Amino acid sequence: MEMEIQRTVQLANLEGWKRTHSCAELTLNHQGQEVCLMGWVQFRRDHGGLIFIDLRDREGLTQIVFAPEVNAKALESAHNLRSEDVIAVKGTVRPRPKDMINPKLVTGEVEVAVTELKILNVSKTPPFLIEDRIEVSENLRLKYRYLDLRRPFMTKNIILRSKAAHSIRSYLNSQGFLEIETPVLTRSTPEGARDFLVPSRLNHGEFYALPQSPQLFKQLLMCAGFDRYYQIVKCFRDEDLRADRQPEFTQIDIEMSFVEEEDVLNLAEGLMAKLFNDVLGIKLKTPFPRLSYAQAIEDYGLDKPDIRFDLKLKDITSIVKNSNFRLFQQASLVKALNLPGGATLSRKEIDDLTEFVKIYGAGGLAWIKIKETEWQSPIAKFLSEEEKAGIAKTLDLKPGDIVFFQAGKPEIVNTALGYLRVKLAEMFNLISQDTLAFTWVVDFPLLEWDEEEKRWVARHHPFTAPKPEHLNLLDTNPEQVLARAYDLVLNGNEIGGGSIRIHTKNVQEKMFSVLGINQEEAEEKFGFLLEALLYGAPPHGGIAFGLDRIIMLMAKSASIRDVIAFPKTQKATCLLTQAPAPVSTKQLRELGLKLK
Ligand code: AMO
Repeated sequence: MEMEIQRTVQLANLEGWKRTHSCAELTLNHQGQEVCLMGWVQFRRDHGGLIFIDLRDREGLTQIVFAPEVNAKALESAHNLRSEDVIAVKGTVRPRPKDMINPKLVTGEVEVAVTELKILNVSKTPPFLIEDRIEVSENLRLKYRYLDLRRPFMTKNIILRSKAAHSIRSYLNSQGFLEIETPVLTRSTPEGARDFLVPSRLNHGEFYALPQSPQLFKQLLMCAGFDRYYQIVKCFRDEDLRADRQPEFTQIDIEMSFVEEEDVLNLAEGLMAKLFNDVLGIKLKTPFPRLSYAQAIEDYGLDKPDIRFDLKLKDITSIVKNSNFRLFQQASLVKALNLPGGATLSRKEIDDLTEFVKIYGAGGLAWIKIKETEWQSPIAKFLSEEEKAGIAKTLDLKPGDIVFFQAGKPEIVNTALGYLRVKLAEMFNLISQDTLAFTWVVDFPLLEWDEEEKRWVARHHPFTAPKPEHLNLLDTNPEQVLARAYDLVLNGNEIGGGSIRIHTKNVQEKMFSVLGINQEEAEEKFGFLLEALLYGAPPHGGIAFGLDRIIMLMAKSASIRDVIAFPKTQKATCLLTQAPAPVSTKQLRELGLKLK
């Protein structure tokens, strides 16, 4: 630890001083008023016998001035002030000299001439500057999160989040929703991720699971007659983390009774329209476009399509099925993506893109540059004139374009090209940063084949209802069954998802059996739900939005960590509190646990 020289400063308590204004309030309208401000020293400038300080609180900055003719003793103490010291001042509001006006600040036309100063606390030199544009590792920011949060852009994000929560509550309350809490110590809910477990002291060998979502409880609330429930609620999922994923995150969780898909979608659109208008002053156009899952995969390769730019994927399987190019000939799916004007990409850039698609399981990346007189490519020589003509027509190729190909298993082909599409759009600046492109994705398959476990699993969760007209396909052609599920996508991010639920015991049991959950296991894990369905469960459905993701997009941040006050690192640790941490043997003993 480096030693810092302790400053000898007389610290004070408030002693009855009351703040009159925030640091972003005073304007020429307050000229001549006696005010009292409190906050942090952002910056101190000594100027020929005068001291100027930018005083900061969460709202903004106000310039305060210490002058010998106003209070010589205060001026003397002000010499000792350093960045992040906490002070209270009393003084008079006066206009700044013309050449010192700062049009960028609300308070930029005035300053406060300090008559009295109280130093409330001093600060060590912070490990980084409390400013927006600084070079600092995220780890250091997370360790000193309380300092990081003082930086204006972080403060703004957290304030935006609070305003958003207020707007959401006010909309849902106005629509007759009740805010009801559900337990945090509960049983495992199958949302597809790993559970966080909490050992029970009173029941050794037994564990609570932290909820992956309040899914089962909100359905039980519908059974209890509490039509129209919502909750802004923490959910816990022990999964691999990414920029848009946290182990504990917040959902806007909603459930309604006596509704169908349209009702939930309308409500969700109303909520988004109100939220974006209240917080950002943006008028959204509703209803949002809808895309079937099949169409989304066909055109964009992903079930969270970014529709702010075109670049659609094209299926060329039938064109190349007899190709001399082995890879194409043997593949069950061949798709191509044309990037107009992309022939400028260098070999190195193409190599980097090849590495990029490998993240999504691709073996490599085939490409063709369209030149005036020829097709430049390692694979062009394998293609017949007829195949070339077919590809050129399907992809509308022009000189200067580059085409990328993926061939193989449909899932890998679509995912790899889907993410490549987004990557190329970013590289070539095809995305308008001011567009908000909402889209619903509907008509999801109900089930998904799990290659590892060799069984069907629910794509969404096991309580999602199949389309009634597909019910009888469950036994014969499960892959064809569509779900009454919907996702809301914003600019290529999945920001919400939900469904109409199964509300009868026989269909729920049928679903469990298709999922290979036998009756005993179903009783053991979900008996309480199955039983509740027997006592007059109403038809119901709902949706949950990822609040962190929505705020991230509203704030134009690259990571949800920037809109969460105290987030976890990619390794799910908290650098501020050092959680997770070992516990004492006494605690383990009480829990009946022994570490291996
Ligand atoms: P789902 O699992 O789709 O649905 O979650 C809903 C939304 O929550 C957000 N989300 C996350 N955000 C940050 N970090 C995470 N780890 C994370 N996981 C999910 C996403 C997602 O769209 N019970 C159902 C909802 C329902 O059926 O009503 C559920 O939880 O934005």
